[in-house]
Amino acid sequence: MKKHIVLLPGDGIGPEVTKAAKQVLEAIAGRYQHTFTFESHDIGGAAVDQHGTPLPEDTVEACNKADAVFLGAVGGPKWDQLPGHLRPEKGLLGIRKQLGLFANLRPVQAFQQLLHASPLKSEVVAGSDLLIVRELTGGLYFGEPRERRDNGQSVVDTLAYQRSEIERIVEKAFQSAQVRRKHLTSVDKANVLESSRMWREVVEEKKQAYPDVEVEHMLVDAAAMKLVTNPSSFDVIVTENMFGDILSDEASVLTGSLGMLPSASVREDGVGLFEPVHGSAPDIAGQNKANPLASILSVAMMLKHSFGMQEEADTVEAAVHEVLHAGFHTADLDITQGIEVGGSQMAAKVIEQI
Ligand code: NAI
Ligand code: MG
Repeated sequence: MKKHIVLLPGDGIGPEVTKAAKQVLEAIAGRYQHTFTFESHDIGGAAVDQHGTPLPEDTVEACNKADAVFLGAVGGPKWDQLPGHLRPEKGLLGIRKQLGLFANLRPVQAFQQLLHASPLKSEVVAGSDLLIVRELTGGLYFGEPRERRDNGQSVVDTLAYQRSEIERIVEKAFQSAQVRRKHLTSVDKANVLESSRMWREVVEEKKQAYPDVEVEHMLVDAAAMKLVTNPSSFDVIVTENMFGDILSDEASVLTGSLGMLPSASVREDGVGLFEPVHGSAPDIAGQNKANPLASILSVAMMLKHSFGMQEEADTVEAAVHEVLHAGFHTADLDITQGIEVGGSQMAAKVIEQI
């Protein structure tokens, strides 16, 4: 298959982890006889320096024509004092919006070799393997009106959804559950919020089309507690934008390092933006310390979600498991056993396995 991929390395460790992602894609292309072509563009602080804006026209145009986009990370102290419209994060929010990416997928897995890297008890974390499907373009973060009123004496934010917006994210979640362990937890606050009651209705309607998926409704406060007391009881979680934002950061502690967490933002036709969950880590940039596994696992998500290459994706994930199993890890993983290596060595180990 032929696929065209746009790379947006960004700032700090972004370029280092993007290099690892590209090498892994090349290794997969070699093993499975695909043709992957690449094009790099500026975003974030790097784009501010080069073009005076965090999201240049060129970058948007290239992403619009791509089969998939890989993004490293944006931001850093160099750009912290800039006015709002020039902030590097504007580039990231802008490109997600321009591409119409409504589903944010964040898998969280407790790797057997890394159980002790989590601040939670290893017997609690063991066996956890869940996927959070977060609605990304509606809900509380985008609803209108949102404003100060009465001379600053009152304020309003709005949690608004079109039924169609709930339907498409719920469908995405059912499809994800079908290829996993067939269990879907829909998280809401239906005892208080009208929007949550509509959310429940949509889930109940949609489940008719997925009779093999077991559905459960859970209030967001209960879900927050269960994520750290019994995380292995979850398979797929689907939820509103802000609930998903909070729960996915909470769930990230199961894995033990930000450097292990991949993510994808996708739309109906499969086009997506794939990025590690972590930021630009200016404290370790340029020192070959960045853990490339979050990016490499994001590549596996690209292969699966944008290219329909399930076997290739499984190969990448299996390679990561093998390398961890052999005891290799980067310095961010706070574990005493095993062999500590630099970021580029870690990527090379994975590629060797592929
Ligand atoms: P961060 O995720 O960049 O770093 C937090 C801590 O985790 C640091 O100690 C860092 O060294 C470590 N870390 C992160 N990724 C790592 C990796 N792959 N390997 C090893 N260690 C890793 O978050 P922080 O420090 O809050 O933000 C730094 C900059 O990144 C800020 O400008 C922030 O706005 C930006 N940022 C960008 C994001 C994005 O592009 N998606 C997301 C979060 C923050
Ligand atoms: Mg967040």
